[in-house]
Amino acid sequence: MKLARKVTAMAMASMMVFSMAACGGGDSATETTAAPAGDTTTQAATEAAKETAKEAEAAGGAGGNIGVCIYKFDDAFMTTYRNALQEILEGKGYTVTVMDGKNDQAEQNNQINNFIAQEVDALIINPVMTSAADQIISTVKDADIPTVLINREPTPEQMSAYEKLVYVGCDARQSGTMQGELILDTPNKGDINGDGKVSYIMIQGDPENVDAQYRTEFSVKALTDAGMEVEELDLQRGDWDRNKGQEIAQNDLAKFGNDIEVIFCNNDDMAIGALQAIQAAGRKVNEDIYLVGVDALDAALNEVVNGNMTGTVLNDANGQAAGAVEAMEALLGGKTYASGEQSIYVDYVKVTPENAADFQ
Ligand code: GAL
Repeated sequence: MKLARKVTAMAMASMMVFSMAACGGGDSATETTAAPAGDTTTQAATEAAKETAKEAEAAGGAGGNIGVCIYKFDDAFMTTYRNALQEILEGKGYTVTVMDGKNDQAEQNNQINNFIAQEVDALIINPVMTSAADQIISTVKDADIPTVLINREPTPEQMSAYEKLVYVGCDARQSGTMQGELILDTPNKGDINGDGKVSYIMIQGDPENVDAQYRTEFSVKALTDAGMEVEELDLQRGDWDRNKGQEIAQNDLAKFGNDIEVIFCNNDDMAIGALQAIQAAGRKVNEDIYLVGVDALDAALNEVVNGNMTGTVLNDANGQAAGAVEAMEALLGGKTYASGEQSIYVDYVKVTPENAADFQ
């Protein structure tokens, strides 16, 4: 076990040199020391990475080189997710390299190509842009690399192009519906001022992302399906980012004041930002305003317990990471997926003060 771990670390070090070198410039400290693409150092590093991977297999680990591409490291939920993924893979003895796409699809494309050049056994990819799915799928198909896509779901048609491809994630419609239900579960169903309608602002994630689209649509749909009248005071993109959530909420609270009864945030990090603005404006969650998010980040769970958030929805990072590894191992075992059966979903869970402690 110890030997396998040591070899794994060596393989990672060699692979990092290659990845960074082939990517060219960049802003991290490691990248600045890298050699230019295509020189002999790079080739030697590639050979070394392949060798150490073989040694890792020989040393008795599960073996296999796995390349993981994350859309950007600077994302609260995806940080929890990637840590879970890395832990599970390394616990199983795989050699794992995780790359930061820095929210740049071109950068991620390079990283995918580098992993292919290194002849990784499988890829786990969290695409930067959902719209890049066709290109990513055709690249991994040409290279014949079993691939699990995570977090940003392509359409079934896109996935049907490659039978060694599967998506593991959640059905974002479910999380939106649960957010709406959290508001319906309040004593006045979100109509705090009793004027017959629920007046809300919507702080959206990256609107290119289906999670943002569905959460926005289905949170409100849950209210209207229950017969509530709704009024959208504002909808703005906060790109999943806490600071942007804070800014949007601050501006809207100044503009609409007590007219705002509900703040829907497509994720918790933006909700934590919105909470800062709510508190700075002297408002009190669950008394004169409701606030809901998605993800069940630790910070949000604390606020739900403290009554500073109305509720959140568990986006099960551990469950999705385990599902992604299971699907990857099925692909490595030779399983192929028929068109229309390439999405594997993990359920969301509604989180209220009653059950929040179960997730802390
Ligand atoms: C969502 C998650 C967000 C953000 C986004 C990135 O599922 O709720 O917090 O991480 O994925 O695509």
